[in-house]
Amino acid sequence: MKNMFCSQLNNVISFFPERIMSCCTSIVGPVYFENIESNKDIDYKIFKELKKVAFNQLNSSDSLCKNCFFLKEKTENDVYTDLYNELNISHWMHCNCNCIYCLRERKKADNVRFFKKNSRHYNLLPIIKGLYDNNLLDVDNLLVRFQGGDISVLKEFEPLVREFDKRGVSEFIFLSNNIIYQPIISEMFKKRKSLLLTSLDCGSRETYKKIKRVDKFENMINNLKRYKKECGDKARLNVKYIVIPEYNDNEKEVKLFLQLMNKLEIPIINFEIDYRYINSGLTHYYKIPKHFYDLFDLFQDYSTKNNVELDICEYTRNILKKGYYEFNCSK
Ligand SMILES: C[S@@+](CC[C@H](N)C(=O)[O-])C[C@H]1O[C@@H](n2cnc3c(N)ncnc32)[C@H](O)[C@@H]1O
Ligand code: SF4
Ligand code: SF4
Repeated sequence: MKNMFCSQLNNVISFFPERIMSCCTSIVGPVYFENIESNKDIDYKIFKELKKVAFNQLNSSDSLCKNCFFLKEKTENDVYTDLYNELNISHWMHCNCNCIYCLRERKKADNVRFFKKNSRHYNLLPIIKGLYDNNLLDVDNLLVRFQGGDISVLKEFEPLVREFDKRGVSEFIFLSNNIIYQPIISEMFKKRKSLLLTSLDCGSRETYKKIKRVDKFENMINNLKRYKKECGDKARLNVKYIVIPEYNDNEKEVKLFLQLMNKLEIPIINFEIDYRYINSGLTHYYKIPKHFYDLFDLFQDYSTKNNVELDICEYTRNILKKGYYEFNCSK
């Protein structure tokens, strides 16, 4: 019999507004806690106990995880541990922006869980302190990823970053619309490995307004400049272009974006396709249009010519390779 393993289950805790769970999929996978009111609801023993139970069930046909693409046959490099080394922080969904593609507002579709943008959220800081106090975190090798919502409207943002910084963290990934400059991000850029991932999705103010539905293009650009000015090469800025049919899927906009990236000396550019098309959203079958490949070529050419890193998530890369996305509900 196969012995299955999941590195997400082994390493990750994900915090969502309504639940704290094992993995970032927010779809399936063992849930540690639901409907949390305060840190008093948290019994820290569960993080070890439930993980063990879930690991024992990975091979069974009624496991929550069956069909998950993270599930792999165990290799000798896969070592079970009680410690967690990756936290996905997404326990609030509030935001100062209104992107047309944002998944926050989607209704429940199939078995996918989505959140209302003004959903209530619990205070995370006491829970993070509890995780450190109960020795559940790998303090020498801990990746913390802030997702959201947006960090700029999360009151706990700075206190959380300070707590991690004080108690042990090796890398932060901050996802943000970058409408508001965050001095603590500059501080973390200067101190250690931190990365700011932000979606610009265009090269002009008009397109920005159509996609983001706020008129903050200048703020976004000025903040990118400010991080560069304050932190120089330590500012690890990863700027994303999500291709959205009928909004920015044209050569003109991509060229404007790349010119801007060049002018601002952005070290990492990121290519993405609107998940609503490739992630069981608007359609169950989506053939990647030919012109998306032409746009992707522009990114690749720019990256090679200018020695700039081109980031693309594995999931999207695989779908580009395959040429289509298909979601089969019967699986
Ligand atoms: C929900 S956002 C939250 C963080 C932050 N507010 C931001 O926009 O970067 C998390 C990430 O998902 C990406 N995202 C959201 N909706 C998407 C979609 N429909 N297609 C592709 N990426 C999407 C955003 O660009 C961002 O990198
Ligand atoms: S196998 Fe999939 S659903 Fe299960 S814990 Fe891992 S990532 Fe989550
Ligand atoms: S900035 Fe992020 S959270 Fe806010 S609307 Fe856009 S994708 Fe959603």
